[in-house]
Amino acid sequence: MFSTAFLDLPALQGASGTVTLPGSKSISNRVLLLSALCQGTTVVHDLLDSDDTRVMLAALRQLGCGVEVKGTTVTITGLGGRAWPTEAIEFFMGNAGTAMRPLTAALAVKGGDFTLKGVPRMHERPIGDLVDALRELGCAIDYLGNEGFPPLRVRQPTLQLDKPIPVRGDVSSQFLTALLMALPLAAQDRAITIEVVGELISKPYIEITLNLLARYGIAVERQGWERFVIPAGSRYQSPGSIHVEADASSASYFIALGAIAAGDPSKGSQGKGIRIQGVGADSIQGDIRFMDAAAQMGAMITSGPNWLEIQRGAWPLKGITLDCNHIPDAAMTLAVMALYADGPTTLRNIASWRVKETDRIVAMAAESRKLGATVEEGPDWITIHPLPAGKWQRASIHTYDDHRVAMCFSLATFNPDQVPVRIEDPKCVAKTFPDYFEALFSVAHTAATNIPVICIDGPTASGKGTLASRVAAQLGYHYLDSGALYRVTAYAALQAGLTLEAADEAAIANLARSLPVRFEGEQVLLDGVDVTDAIRSEQGGMNASKVSVLPAVRDALVDLQHSFQRLPGLLADGRDMGTVIFPNAPLKVFLTASAAQRAERRHKQLISKGFSANIDALCADLEARDARDMSRSVAPLRPAQDALQLDNSQLSIEASVEQVMVWWQSRQVFG
Ligand code: DC
Repeated sequence: MFSTAFLDLPALQGASGTVTLPGSKSISNRVLLLSALCQGTTVVHDLLDSDDTRVMLAALRQLGCGVEVKGTTVTITGLGGRAWPTEAIEFFMGNAGTAMRPLTAALAVKGGDFTLKGVPRMHERPIGDLVDALRELGCAIDYLGNEGFPPLRVRQPTLQLDKPIPVRGDVSSQFLTALLMALPLAAQDRAITIEVVGELISKPYIEITLNLLARYGIAVERQGWERFVIPAGSRYQSPGSIHVEADASSASYFIALGAIAAGDPSKGSQGKGIRIQGVGADSIQGDIRFMDAAAQMGAMITSGPNWLEIQRGAWPLKGITLDCNHIPDAAMTLAVMALYADGPTTLRNIASWRVKETDRIVAMAAESRKLGATVEEGPDWITIHPLPAGKWQRASIHTYDDHRVAMCFSLATFNPDQVPVRIEDPKCVAKTFPDYFEALFSVAHTAATNIPVICIDGPTASGKGTLASRVAAQLGYHYLDSGALYRVTAYAALQAGLTLEAADEAAIANLARSLPVRFEGEQVLLDGVDVTDAIRSEQGGMNASKVSVLPAVRDALVDLQHSFQRLPGLLADGRDMGTVIFPNAPLKVFLTASAAQRAERRHKQLISKGFSANIDALCADLEARDARDMSRSVAPLRPAQDALQLDNSQLSIEASVEQVMVWWQSRQVFG
């Protein structure tokens, strides 16, 4: 996840490949509870890992359910046929509405001595309508705080199931869902009828519930949207294994991506379009109908069980006019597709946009205009005009703490003018899709010249590594510690029984060419083995220095270094970054500090790592190393011609980072 203040997305040119999307939250928690209410074992695949599902899993464990988590696969051994807990249990539900409501209903119908609490915000979220309905059928529930709100205490019920149970449908469909999932537990010898009071909202979510109930052996009889009958003899049956569908609203960004982005011809048939794994056209989620709208605009979509494939069809896309009431969330994605269309697009019946995370009509209009688009808006509609080549502007997209605004505008990076797009507060995507940008980068491609590189070089112990990695963290960029590559090469050469002399140059270069090195945070792994400490020692530096003067070795490491230039950008630290490896880098910094200062810093660093060191010896060493580094014939230490010099002798690391950020921002101006 990117938790930077902003994320600069380089202009993208195409996209191809497969993305696996996170599971739907609504489906995940329903499936967990249903699996827990069955007899036997259910293997749940592709479960969403989020706060809400963790709360549910913890509660199920407390009830005595078998829960085994392996990545996104969770095996649930249900409570059916087992002794229902009789001891008092207190459940902590956090702020997970999708866990609180259905669990309350199931516990109340089965009975026991249970307390359900949550975070303060949970205690402000109404549950009275559900409690009223449950009391109507004989459940014993008390409010422990305010009337109508959690926390709750649940006791043994005296169920009265002979008359229909009324439940309000116009506040939250979750109450009806909760009843639908709980009542099969009581329907052994009689049918149970639920009557909806008021107009039922969010019908697609009730459809999800009914669909899943059917998968677990409960065939609810639906009479319009007013009456639901759970037949006599209903009994939960495990489907054995079940896949949680990927979130259909999240899929909209990748459906749009497939429609907008050209494939990658260099990859042949592999380079054609986007494959979405985890959700198919037969999805039980309402937002899947976005695919029809995308197809109308030009997307070519094929689908199978649990997958979708999308290719660019009509290009430019076709402007459409559409009633979007059935896909309010996914419809935002159409607004960005509209920028690439041949005529205006009008999205109608979207009044609900005004009361979501932010006023989405205002947000989509304002941010599209920043890109240069012409937009008209009304109380419940928006018209977006296409944005022709030559008119796109660099924009800093405000995201209003709204995950969907952030994800939508990432698609503006395919603009024909190849201008980058800044997304403010990118971490807001965590609400439904923490790794959205990583997923986007995994399939998107662009010319290397579009992917920015900042080079930081300087004499040994100038602090360039720390500076580079801090700037990388602030920008969400990758980090290349090129010195570590020379250190690892020397280490690997010695391991292989080579000397570090010119006599073994070819052999060392061979090793370097396919160096199995991996960086994981601060750790450096060679062939999976942690060699961090071994290469970070003074001796490791000396050895690196020796192999780094061998031209064949330098040559052999070029491709590896280039491979670090990946989306969204790179901080490259080391000797020849700005002169040889990335000569076109838009910002090069040459960091210096006095030898005395550097010796002091290095001393601190070594001591803190448990190495012994002498400050005067270090200083003499550094001066000798500087002289050698500057005078050597192969890759001498020398600033690139266009490098900006930064003397950090008297600067804190924060101040140095700030300076580099100021330089960078002045070169990357976003309106
Ligand atoms: O930055 P460092 O101390 O980890 O570098 C180790 C050695 O490798 C040092 O002698 C400089 C050399 N080096 C190089 O020649 N070219 C680079 N791009 C990086 C480091």
